[in-house]
Amino acid sequence: HQLKMDIEAIEKGGYDHFMLKEIYEQPKSIRDTLRGRLLPEQGLIKMGGVFEYREKIVNAERIIIIGCGTSWHAGLVAEYLFEDLARIPVEVEYASEFRYRNPVITEKDVVIAISQSGETADTLAAIKLAKEKGATIFGICNVVGSSIARETHAGAYTHAGPEIGVASTKAFTAQVAVLALMALRIAHDRGVLKQSYYHQLLTELDSIPEKIEKMLESDAQARHISELYKDAQNFLYLGRGFNFPVALEGALKLKEISYIHAEGYPAAEMKHGPIALIDENMPVVVIAPKSGQYEKIVSNIQEVKARNGKVIAVVSNGDSEIARMADHVIEIEETAEVFSPLLTTIPLQLLSYHIAVMRGCNVDQPRNLAKSVTVE
Ligand code: G6P
Repeated sequence: HQLKMDIEAIEKGGYDHFMLKEIYEQPKSIRDTLRGRLLPEQGLIKMGGVFEYREKIVNAERIIIIGCGTSWHAGLVAEYLFEDLARIPVEVEYASEFRYRNPVITEKDVVIAISQSGETADTLAAIKLAKEKGATIFGICNVVGSSIARETHAGAYTHAGPEIGVASTKAFTAQVAVLALMALRIAHDRGVLKQSYYHQLLTELDSIPEKIEKMLESDAQARHISELYKDAQNFLYLGRGFNFPVALEGALKLKEISYIHAEGYPAAEMKHGPIALIDENMPVVVIAPKSGQYEKIVSNIQEVKARNGKVIAVVSNGDSEIARMADHVIEIEETAEVFSPLLTTIPLQLLSYHIAVMRGCNVDQPRNLAKSVTVE
């Protein structure tokens, strides 16, 4: 028993939990995922596996993305990436819904399956179905040689390394990094991006790991906020555009490991329901970097404050406008709007981690959850 504990302590590399270790590994896991693929000096993106089927994906009339849980959230980020950069219509589907609703799929369709484990039963069944109907299937998996990886025509691995914590952290950002590479490459091949913007984005993507490193240096703020709100019964997460999926993912992280009820919402939808829940006991996490629909989200913050909600805002470095309105701010480094999910996700991971630890929860192995769901 003692030996088992010692081995585990070594595996945790000095961190209290695998989840925290994996959060801190993100600069490395993203770097590993980009290595050899993103070549900003040459203005190139190389993805051998994916571009064996280059014609299919570059000329796709639509892309269907399939996943479950956190991988489905990465798919939602990809919807914004592919549509905004590559101008291809995207549908994102829960694998479990897709497989049972007699979906309309033809040989023209391109399906991207996203799965950390590569073993999720619903995702595997969904791609088998799409394959039978003649679609071309790409996979984005973390586990090499996994069932989903073997079932797909082509694909790209995320090089996040083994993820032990049940709540996905570094696998999610690695998935988003691969999807960003794909979107950029397809956009470039389709000739729909201005050359200068394309080059600017390659350089920017290359700088993301370094920016995450900087952000991880100041975890004190997330810890402080966690201390204040650890006993809350509900949390609301709001975001717009590229950061709407981040709101969903932030809420999922909190639910999974702290057992606090949390909902993610597109900020503008708040007025159609969730606003009724807001009072002085409701912490609202608002993801509000300077890029994107900034002024819109500022008014969403005002709406929360007018009802005495507590606002925890994730903002760009030095944002004084939101700092005046919000109860707390967590700053992120400046980046292009299309890559902001890679940064805004980090403080939300830390927030859920600290809250769960403070509540005495088993963060690495939350109750009722499994790392990989191989049954229906
Ligand atoms: C389980 C895990 C989640 C994961 C989801 C999909 O629910 O607890 O962390 O996001 O399955 O898993 P996959 O391996 O397909 O990404």
